[in-house]
Amino acid sequence: MKPLTLSRLPTPLQYLPDSSDRLGVEIWMKRDDLTGLGVSGNKVRKLDYLLAEAVARGATCVITTGGIQSNHCRATATAARMVGLRPVLLLRGTPPTGGRDGNLLLDTILGADITFITPQQYAHRDALMAETAERLAARGERPYVIPEGGSNAVGALGFVQAGRELAVQAMSAGVDFDTVLCAVGSGGTLAGLAMSGLSANILGVAVCDDRAYFRNRVEEIAADAERLGCTLPSTGWDVLEGFAGRGYALSSPDELASQVALARETGLILDPVYTGKAWHALERTLADSPRALGRRILFWHTGGLFGIFGRGAEYADACG
Ligand SMILES: Cc1ncc(COP(=O)(O)O)c(C=O)c1O
Repeated sequence: MKPLTLSRLPTPLQYLPDSSDRLGVEIWMKRDDLTGLGVSGNKVRKLDYLLAEAVARGATCVITTGGIQSNHCRATATAARMVGLRPVLLLRGTPPTGGRDGNLLLDTILGADITFITPQQYAHRDALMAETAERLAARGERPYVIPEGGSNAVGALGFVQAGRELAVQAMSAGVDFDTVLCAVGSGGTLAGLAMSGLSANILGVAVCDDRAYFRNRVEEIAADAERLGCTLPSTGWDVLEGFAGRGYALSSPDELASQVALARETGLILDPVYTGKAWHALERTLADSPRALGRRILFWHTGGLFGIFGRGAEYADACG
């Protein structure tokens, strides 16, 4: 399948000299926070493939789901508008009584058709999206349904390609990475990278759930991706658990302090839900065991910037 070109690729590969000095290993960053603006972050790589399929099938609207501040839903709403499709979002949470902010504000500006759902409904999200699709089809629409996080076989192709993109960049920079580290929220990014043939050890940091859950998710996505010619190696990838902290989308003061320190050291902004937790995991792992991840580490910056807005009070202490 020929992907769309909504993401701005290749994203830069950046060496972080000051962080490397501080942490005692070489730290590089893959800047997927720069894939776009409304479509910034890792999700648009998946959407290049998913929406190519939607367009090929003659879809008129795209249905997807996530948390109220979902980066995936915001990227989907933006990408859908870029190719003339109507975004339909099922968002877990209650509508804010004051103004909307962050990703939800962008969803609103983009005119997404938003339905707020409860955590109980979210537990049955696939069935709910299927019902929504049926209802819209009865009205003459041609809906295309994207699962949570864009994490299925087709979406993962975006990260198979991303792994290959990194391999080319690493070769021309003359570097070999021991570890490639990324945040894991629904598994598609890790699954794609694990299937990409990268020679590094690919490690996903679970920002919710645990290692067993995400290993299983990656295996499920990969099993389906076999029909697309992908293969998941049995070794060379894993999930790091124990860094979800207070839980999904909940931050602790030390996680926020790590993000603020990195911003002041490098000018790079992480997000509180995914990249901030993954970076914190990196720092803590190295503090416990300086060579646990090898000597040269690639941190995959998967974006998520809009997730900081509306959380200023939480950052206040960390910012001093
Ligand atoms: C900014 C950001 N980073 C990382 C992830 C995790 O990627 P995946 O859902 O493919 O595991 C997500 C979404 O869940 C995200 O929004």
